[in-house]
Amino acid sequence: MRTQVAVVGAGPAGLLLAVLLEQAGIDVLLLERRSPEYVLSRIRAGVLEQGTVDLLDAAGVGRRMHAEGVPHEGIEISFNGDPLRIDLFKRSGGKRVLVYGQTELTRDLMDFRTGRPSVYEAEDVAVEGFDTAHPRVTYRRDGTTHVVECDFVAGCDGFHGVSRACLPAGAARTFERVYPFGWLGVMADVPPVRDELIYAHHERGFALCSMRSRTRVRCYIQCPLDTDVAAWSDARFWDELRLRLAPEVAAAMQTGPSIEKSVAPLRSFVAEPLRFGRLFLAGDAAHIVPPTGAKGLNLAASDVRYLAEGLIGHFCEGSEAGLDHYSARALARIWKAERFSWWMTELLHAFPEGGAFDRRLQRAEFDYLRGSEAAQTVLAENYVGLPV
Ligand code: APR
Ligand code: PHB
Repeated sequence: MRTQVAVVGAGPAGLLLAVLLEQAGIDVLLLERRSPEYVLSRIRAGVLEQGTVDLLDAAGVGRRMHAEGVPHEGIEISFNGDPLRIDLFKRSGGKRVLVYGQTELTRDLMDFRTGRPSVYEAEDVAVEGFDTAHPRVTYRRDGTTHVVECDFVAGCDGFHGVSRACLPAGAARTFERVYPFGWLGVMADVPPVRDELIYAHHERGFALCSMRSRTRVRCYIQCPLDTDVAAWSDARFWDELRLRLAPEVAAAMQTGPSIEKSVAPLRSFVAEPLRFGRLFLAGDAAHIVPPTGAKGLNLAASDVRYLAEGLIGHFCEGSEAGLDHYSARALARIWKAERFSWWMTELLHAFPEGGAFDRRLQRAEFDYLRGSEAAQTVLAENYVGLPV
């Protein structure tokens, strides 16, 4: 078969790109390795920048997000129990973030595309000829091999996807930092302890009290990379979380049975460039941020926005400028989000190999943040999202 843009991967990046292109009248085929149910079972972060919200609104998929998402105007940083509220709204000149789960957003995008060309459970997807004028994507489904001829391929297939893996050795330069810990996350149907998210630095390790709604929490504790989820009963998790929070917060916190529990490693990663002839990388296929600061989904959305503009320029306006500048434009924003996510991670975690000097520096960083409006402004403008 033939299409204009073959999009590999139906996570939020691939789905949103497909929606934006289809609205401009461009033919898309979306290819996904997993089933729709599997894609919807993955639990990811849930904080949307204003720019992400605006893009989803422009795409016409924002109705449920506005009805069910909760706007937040601040976050709390707790440093060994010392609380500091960052007034995101005031310090960013009137911007908010919207707390809405990525899983819900993925569902909205999937529902919106009902009936549009998609192949789920596509096996052995391979991208070929992207350095020629006639790229092809092949895949197997139900034992048959299919060939898709296209003008462009969008690699939106996440960190472990095939798009980046199919590049010749040396074509991409990669930059990586792997952190010596992970996050153990729990979801539970209890009301959040506070109206806003609490990011906690503690000698025992980082903790985060987040939420999905006014009746569902998502909480994390920093853990060793080899943590066995089975060794963490719900009671053990809640006890450890309480130890990392201020006593009055710990005392007020409601707990309940977990409905999901998993460990995720922390990594910073960027591949450069993002364009290889007629293949473009976007989202987690191109970069990973540690979750501290919740930039992963938002960065995927800004990549997709730039890429959609480039492809619409090509197909609808006869202009190559957007595609030519895609990589540099996206990377400029990606590296700033990498910097911010790294900074939040360094401030808030207990580093196993970090000595007393490093811990004093973290304390000084926190004290500086508490005493400086300028430092709070830097945090706020990055948290709500730098300009797109
Ligand atoms: N063929 C087809 N699809 C694939 C392949 C493959 N070989 N490999 C992976 N995929 C699919 C995955 O199953 C997944 O559904 O690509 C999709 C990638 O989705 P995500 O990993 O969610 O990445 P992305 O869409 O870039 O989303 C951005 O923001 O919050 C962060 O990391 C979080 O997923 C989030 C990301
Ligand atoms: C989440 O709710 O899962 C979440 C929120 C904020 C983060 C990371 C994760 O920084």
